[in-house]
Amino acid sequence: MRVLVTGGAGFIGGNFVRYLLSSNTNDSVIGLDALTYAGNIESLMDVEDKPNYTFVHGDVTSHEDVEAVFAVGIDAVVHFAAESHVDRSILDPGAFVRTNVLGTQVLLDAARKYGVKKFVHVSTDEVYGALGSTGYFTEETPLHPNSPYSASKAGSDLLVQAYHHTYGLPTCITRCSNNYGPYQFPEKLIPLTIVRAMANEPIPVYGDGQQVRDWLHVIDHCRAIDAVLREGVSGEVYNIGSDNEWTNLRIVERILDVLGKPHDLIQFVEDRPGHDRRYAIDATKIRRELGWAPTIPFDEGLASTVKWYQENETWWRRVQSGEYQSFFETQYSTRLSQ
Ligand code: NAD
Ligand code: TYD
Repeated sequence: MRVLVTGGAGFIGGNFVRYLLSSNTNDSVIGLDALTYAGNIESLMDVEDKPNYTFVHGDVTSHEDVEAVFAVGIDAVVHFAAESHVDRSILDPGAFVRTNVLGTQVLLDAARKYGVKKFVHVSTDEVYGALGSTGYFTEETPLHPNSPYSASKAGSDLLVQAYHHTYGLPTCITRCSNNYGPYQFPEKLIPLTIVRAMANEPIPVYGDGQQVRDWLHVIDHCRAIDAVLREGVSGEVYNIGSDNEWTNLRIVERILDVLGKPHDLIQFVEDRPGHDRRYAIDATKIRRELGWAPTIPFDEGLASTVKWYQENETWWRRVQSGEYQSFFETQYSTRLSQ
């Protein structure tokens, strides 16, 4: 298969590119990424020389960029490219509508025109809205997004379902809980806590810190997406989660404990506007129908993630300083042309 991975220089997309290249040598992988602030080509330096991997610098909202990629022949699309940070969506919703809604529609049109055999749309549990202290999201839970981020993702989900229903496009949608693991930018809770704690800097906890998320290691998410790519039934939605619910405050405390840092680094700050209280996923369907189950216990995943940030300080320091953004122009594009 030739698989197009959009957002392939982001956190999950980059981990998925590496996962595909290491687990199935018969696939060739094209990573398409606009290299926004969230894209980091340095995250893929270890696979850049693989003969079955190509990186394309392009924008999913550009018909021209997308056509150029599809014209080489694409069997399947795994669509990660998105604006993904809730806090940024509160400050600038327009970018989220443009990439997440319009970009998805541009890709769907190309997938239809070129007859791709599978279009996997990577969505989020946040499209379901917020839960109280009980209950779980199933695939039948009505969409009730609360943030500009989740609203734009819900918009993209509806377009994907409409293209399946109207044109018969072979689509699947995945809706996963919060991911953690290597190569996540330190603007998200877990890596932010790790790098700030390592520097003995205060850790901002929004509101009372009692909001609940269900955390899944990114490699387990990649395994689930791979199962949907190969075995997922066209037109279906698959929830992905691991029954691993923690309050934000406990997550931060656990990371401080792993690092041997004092809890008084925690600083309660003003709450996020419209902050969703709890997300929790019922992943029975993907477990039963595709045989997927998470494999990385949270203790181990959290400890190995902390270790990864300790051992890859250059990577996240270059993200913090912004140096990673000049890497593509100054070095990578030169290498490509050699
Ligand atoms: P990310 O922000 O780390 O990466 C997004 C990538 O998309 C970046 O490389 C960025 O450069 C690229 N991109 C943005 N706009 C683009 C455009 N117009 N054209 C081409 N590329 C563009 O995000 P992530 O955390 O890896 O999330 C990936 C996907 O998974 C998103 O669709 C997100 O909604 C979904 N998701 C994320 C989580 C999570 O916990 N991070 C959980 C569930 C679902
Ligand atoms: P985040 O990692 O941004 O993911 P999402 O908003 O998609 O769930 O945030 C996870 C939770 O942590 C969320 O409830 C907001 C909270 N949070 C903090 O308390 N402090 C922080 O500095 C950040 C970034 C998030």
